[in-house]
Amino acid sequence: MDLTLLVTLLLPADQALPFDEVSKDVPEESKVQKQNDTDGVCVFKCLLNRDTECCRVGKESILITLGYNSALLKFESPTDLSSFSSTLKRCRNEKKESSVFNQRTEEASAVQYFQFYGCISQQQNMMQDFVRTATYHRAILQNHIDFRDKVVLDVGCGSGILSFFAVQAGARRVYAVEASSVAQYAEMLVKNNHLSDKIIVVPGKIEDISLPEAVDVIISEPMGYMLFNERMLESYLHSKKWLKANGMMFPTFGDIHLAPFSDEQLYMEHYSRANFWYQQSFYGVNLSSLRGAAMDEYFRQPIVDTFDIRILMARTVKYTVNFVDAEEADLHRVEIPFVFQLTQSGLVHGLAFWFDVAFVGSLVTVWLSTAPTEPLTHWYQVRCLLHTPLFAKEGETLSGKVLFVANRRQSYDIQIVALVNQTGFRSGNILDLKNPFFRFA
Ligand SMILES: C[S@@+](CC[C@H](N)C(=O)[O-])C[C@H]1O[C@@H](n2cnc3c(N)ncnc32)[C@H](O)[C@@H]1O
Ligand SMILES: *[C@@H]1O[C@H](CO)[C@@H](O)[C@H](O)[C@H]1NC(C)=O
Ligand SMILES: *[C@@H]1O[C@H](CO)[C@@H](O)[C@H](O)[C@H]1NC(C)=O
Ligand SMILES: *[C@@H]1O[C@H](CO)[C@@H](O)[C@H](O)[C@H]1NC(C)=O
Repeated sequence: MDLTLLVTLLLPADQALPFDEVSKDVPEESKVQKQNDTDGVCVFKCLLNRDTECCRVGKESILITLGYNSALLKFESPTDLSSFSSTLKRCRNEKKESSVFNQRTEEASAVQYFQFYGCISQQQNMMQDFVRTATYHRAILQNHIDFRDKVVLDVGCGSGILSFFAVQAGARRVYAVEASSVAQYAEMLVKNNHLSDKIIVVPGKIEDISLPEAVDVIISEPMGYMLFNERMLESYLHSKKWLKANGMMFPTFGDIHLAPFSDEQLYMEHYSRANFWYQQSFYGVNLSSLRGAAMDEYFRQPIVDTFDIRILMARTVKYTVNFVDAEEADLHRVEIPFVFQLTQSGLVHGLAFWFDVAFVGSLVTVWLSTAPTEPLTHWYQVRCLLHTPLFAKEGETLSGKVLFVANRRQSYDIQIVALVNQTGFRSGNILDLKNPFFRFA
């Protein structure tokens, strides 16, 4: 972990600095910078890391070597020095495993994940989802009294767009936390929009960073495919350690909806893809021993696309996650039992999923819906096939459960079991949410 050291002197602006600038011959990364701060003049700024050389001098001073120069920091008391050097020591030795995020995530997954969000094009993709961005804008601005003169935390700010909305609604200060390298671009937008006094971009993971104060409202857009993918909801819930008692969460709760569907064409399409491996002479090679493995792999993929709601065979079952009450651990294993009364006869090929989130403000409640009856968003809808379709008649009941088990790849293993009560027909499937099949044209 790197530590940026800032030493600020409180001087009248017209007074000369009591020493010369020491920036000559210093390597670029640890350059001493002189810049004005609102409360004084920042006379010293440098980056300290594992490789920085420093040592104690006497009881009240510490010597730091920066390239060809050294800086001697003299503290007011030995206590100040020891608290400074223990912070320094902690930063220099901090083990990566220590944070909640690192403990639950494989490093390879995290690297790939934050590289993805570091791309300007990905941020643009989300910003250009009109339903998404316009709904957040409306939810925040129409509840302006919840933001007026308030302190706000934006968890995973990306481009910073939601932080700008909070300022438009009257926020006094916004802490915009972002772990990917897009944080530097958010900072550029903040500067260029002359909001450096209101929006503080804090680079780093919400699980690792520290804020100077508690906040009144937390805003975030942490939803993935099927609501839960990416496991960012846990980071959103984690951030409540910075929320004042009775503070607000925007969004406030999320509903995941599920319903059985019939789609022969989709089922056959998956089946035929796997049947490639049924060939006994592909350029003279017998592929058929892999057909079973291919079938398993294809059926493990949740399908991301949209559909006509007439394929749905029952009213939906709803499961709610209340972001005000829920804790991170509640999302490690989510069990959703269901009982559907079938409204039509036919083959059930699987379960369809989508979600809504609600922003419960003091003035209005605004909904962001990804339902198949609503305008399409970049979340589409998600369908999970059953290994074998189940025949059922109108009026019969389909019961069972969906189990989401979190994994270290920032996603979930999904287990589905289903039973037609009247006939005893059973089916199910196990799916890997990390590896969906994007079917939309
Ligand atoms: C879905 S994007 C939303 C971006 C932006 N808030 C918006 O609405 O356009 C989620 C962002 O959160 C960031 N993020 C995810 N997990 C995070 C964590 N634990 N700490 C900080 N940022 C995180 C990602 O890098 C990504 O930029
Ligand atoms: C800091 O601000 C003072 C007064 O506003 C100005 O005269 C001085 O040049 C500034 N210094 C730097 C390093 O920007
Ligand atoms: C190909 O392999 C399958 C499975 O092992 C076997 O049953 C079949 O006879 C083989 N076909 C040929 C043409 O060898
Ligand atoms: C259907 O069968 C399951 C398993 O036997 C049982 O738990 C459930 O209560 C039944 N539901 C209905 C509506 O009959």
